[in-house]
Amino acid sequence: MSILIQVAYLISSILFILGIKKLGKTKSAREGNVYSAVGMLIAIAATLYTVNILSFVEIFVCILIGGAIGLYVSKKVEMTKIPEMVALFNGFGGLASFAVALSDYFLKTQAMETYPDSVNSISIIVSVLIGGVTFTGSMIAYLKLDGKISGSPITFKGQHPINLILLIAFIIAGVLAYLNPGNPVFMIALIVISLLLGVLTVIPIGGADMPVVISLLNSYSGMAACATGFILNNNVLIVAGSLVGASGIILTQIMCKAMNRSLTNVLLGGFGQTVSGPAADGPQIVVKEIGVEETAMLFDSASSVLVVPGYGMAVAQAQHVIRELMEQCEKRNIDFKFAIHPVAGRMPGHMNVLLAEANISYDKLIEMEAINDEFPNTDLVFVVGANDVVNPAARTNPQSPIFGMPILNADKAKTVIVSKRSMGKGYAGIENELFGYPNCLMLFGDAKQTITKVVSEMKEM
Ligand code: TAP
Repeated sequence: MSILIQVAYLISSILFILGIKKLGKTKSAREGNVYSAVGMLIAIAATLYTVNILSFVEIFVCILIGGAIGLYVSKKVEMTKIPEMVALFNGFGGLASFAVALSDYFLKTQAMETYPDSVNSISIIVSVLIGGVTFTGSMIAYLKLDGKISGSPITFKGQHPINLILLIAFIIAGVLAYLNPGNPVFMIALIVISLLLGVLTVIPIGGADMPVVISLLNSYSGMAACATGFILNNNVLIVAGSLVGASGIILTQIMCKAMNRSLTNVLLGGFGQTVSGPAADGPQIVVKEIGVEETAMLFDSASSVLVVPGYGMAVAQAQHVIRELMEQCEKRNIDFKFAIHPVAGRMPGHMNVLLAEANISYDKLIEMEAINDEFPNTDLVFVVGANDVVNPAARTNPQSPIFGMPILNADKAKTVIVSKRSMGKGYAGIENELFGYPNCLMLFGDAKQTITKVVSEMKEM
């Protein structure tokens, strides 16, 4: 039986790896999800054979309750709220590892007044640290993203030294807990310090840097699960935890690059404190407006169009009407493509998911590096609810908080039309000088409503 369980774990691990690989491409992402879910089902079923604390009925009831909550939440959540949901998922993952580590500690030390071995004891301490930090850190991230507490960085004097002192205190308490397994005082100190560290490392982070933190916490939750795998001596948990930990770190690095942040900066916390400011805002911007009729005429006369989607497209749910716009353009043999910035929207792959939902084929979605040189030769760039990702200040203004962030070269096109409701700012909270450029025209109004009108104008042409 034990061999059969290990074989089942091996199969689930292979399915997890294949699942992650397939999740890397929009085209195969759904398939990847199914592979991973089947892997998880096999892992759960195999684990059930080894469990002797709860009965099958109790486990089944727990799966039903958890599954029902998961199904309800995932059906109900809006696309714009996915980062909040991921923050909660990470937090509960961290909490689960934290709880398993503590229950193992109290069960074993009470029964034997000692740890079974040093791998077990070190795993418990590591799991308490990472699980605790992940739990409270993710809860703070959730509250910030959901607007329940201020999204701005909360800072105070001596923040970093305090974090460092807490980390040193954790290491000392960890050594004492290791040497005195029967004494719960040290374990309680570890619990308090880890929960506090989670809060203190996330509160100073705000603004456009939050997604990096979510991704990092995702990686932490994987590492916590991996440590729990060592506690429970469960191979599949070690593999799954490592996969989440490693993929989270890779995603963090990709996002850091796209947002011009260093990973060290992220790991130390306390970044993203300058999301807006007068120095970044610059002089008053004078814009030129365009109406729906003229917009339709510009589309009609263009031979190449690049659409730059952003967060506003998600808010307006304009992806379906953009597909209709694409159909109108393609009828006229206009070359029509999408330029996708890695952090457009509010989560990695946000734009790809929305456009795929509107049945826009994947080969029309071109990533930033591949498309950026095409802007100067493009007749018309249509910016839909995007702002920061096309802000030339990232290239030209060293005072700007987004200076150095790679952007889409929309400003270099022959003509740019920007669809947004007002002169409202983007996520970074700064003005966008592109809107005042001579080649830029503003199409004011909700993206879905205005583009619907443009499409009906084009249909009548
Ligand atoms: P943003 O810079 O946030 O700009 C979105 C724009 O959409 C706003 O200026 C807003 O202007 C407009 N808008 C809102 N509702 C609209 C509607 N119904 N119709 C038309 N326009 C509407 O978006 P972006 O360019 O996609 O940049 C993303 C930003 O978010 C970056 O700073 C990025 O770092 C950050 N971020 C990214 C992620 C990830 S991983 N993707 C996660 C969190 C944060 P009006 O108010 O004038 O309409």
